Amino acid sequence: MHKAQYTANAASFGKDFWWGVATAAAQNEGAHTADGRGLSIWDVFARRQGKIKGGAKPYDACHFYYRYKEDLMLAKALGFNTFRLSFSWSRLFPMGKGKPNKAGLAFYHQVIDECLKLGLVPFVTLYHWDLPQALEKEGGWAAFHINEWFNHYVRFCAKEYGSKVKHWIVLNEPFGFTSLGYLLGRHAPGKKSLPAFFSAVHHAVLAQADGGNILRTEVHKGHIGTSFSCSAIVPYTQKPEDVAAANRADILFNRLFIEPLLGKGYPKDNFPLLEKLEIHNQAWKYEKRMQCKMDFIGLQNYFPLTIRHNAFIPLVQASEVKAITRKVPHTAMGWEINPDSFHHIIKRFWKYGGIKEIIITENGAAFKDKVEHGVINDTARTAYFSDHLDALLRARHEGVKISGYMAWTLMDNFEWAEGYAARFGLVHVDFKTQLRTIKNSGYWWRDFLTEKQV
Ligand code: BGC
Repeated sequence: MHKAQYTANAASFGKDFWWGVATAAAQNEGAHTADGRGLSIWDVFARRQGKIKGGAKPYDACHFYYRYKEDLMLAKALGFNTFRLSFSWSRLFPMGKGKPNKAGLAFYHQVIDECLKLGLVPFVTLYHWDLPQALEKEGGWAAFHINEWFNHYVRFCAKEYGSKVKHWIVLNEPFGFTSLGYLLGRHAPGKKSLPAFFSAVHHAVLAQADGGNILRTEVHKGHIGTSFSCSAIVPYTQKPEDVAAANRADILFNRLFIEPLLGKGYPKDNFPLLEKLEIHNQAWKYEKRMQCKMDFIGLQNYFPLTIRHNAFIPLVQASEVKAITRKVPHTAMGWEINPDSFHHIIKRFWKYGGIKEIIITENGAAFKDKVEHGVINDTARTAYFSDHLDALLRARHEGVKISGYMAWTLMDNFEWAEGYAARFGLVHVDFKTQLRTIKNSGYWWRDFLTEKQV
């Protein structure tokens, strides 16, 4: 890694920059059956043995449902001007469709009003992985009707909240929830089916475009985008088979969802898996409908991937060479720490053209935090943020229009299949008592954002 050429401070990003923390309903709210909420696929998936570390359940999480005022105040106190939250579809529509739940509606009004009162601009994600279980019973993202259900939900939210919420993210990381949930069975709903994966991908591709177009018509002066995970992909060696394997991984990890949105159709590049996906979905019929002119593209990056050819891996014949085996710096998730790769992938997306603006809607790191005398001196997390912000500033100086950055995440929370073991927060949560303690990285952010740093 070469030395950062830029040393970021908040002012170097300009005064209209969105500085936020990102959160998600299923990871923070808890209160999973309170006030008429319907179950989500994660509540049900968590009952299955061996699926979530330590048998953890998302039922309580951080009790954000009850403590949102205090938590929003924390975000404000740390200096942020933006708060990213997601709506729990099953809190708003316990059955996913049909009658809305009044208490759920009221809850999000209260959260949004509180944000506005504190001067935190709300960015709302409509779907952050927690499908209503009632819809999963009918096939979930693999079902043909999902687009009708989703569009109804989006239109409803836009009408209900559109006068207060101007910034919308349609989907969070569609590659994550379709691949982990429908192909690999590692996330809810735990399916392992290639046809289900193909259908889920296509329906998510349609949902992100339909959702964007609906928001555009329903929200006056809306600022509309959708978020993608991305990772710089590095071939393990320059051998042709490793380079080809890296290219296949790149198609899946980086190109699968954004290219149809930008009007390029699905990527293919001699990758039989993608040719099958195209045929399964008769995708050529949908090229127009898969497009949407977004106001911004949300990028979420945590790590780069080193990939080598592996004939034993079905479909992609590629596998990751983990950071641990390569002895490079990594987080508690085993994810490589490499700010240069962050810079690289942002520039790569910008090169597509046709993107008006990029917002980093997630970036952050989990480490094994130690609480010592009430202090969490998480220097590794602070270094991670500081180095990634330097890389971001470099991309900005090189001409990429980047208008915001959201740290993942405000507080330790339910980290999906990792349960409560992986901690990404700027604020430590004791899950037994729900006590919040600001970590030193949180204080670092406060100083950074309030310009106390030189
Ligand atoms: C997801 C978050 C998650 C984070 C860290 C992202 O893929 O959007 O919900 O907690 O990564 O794993």
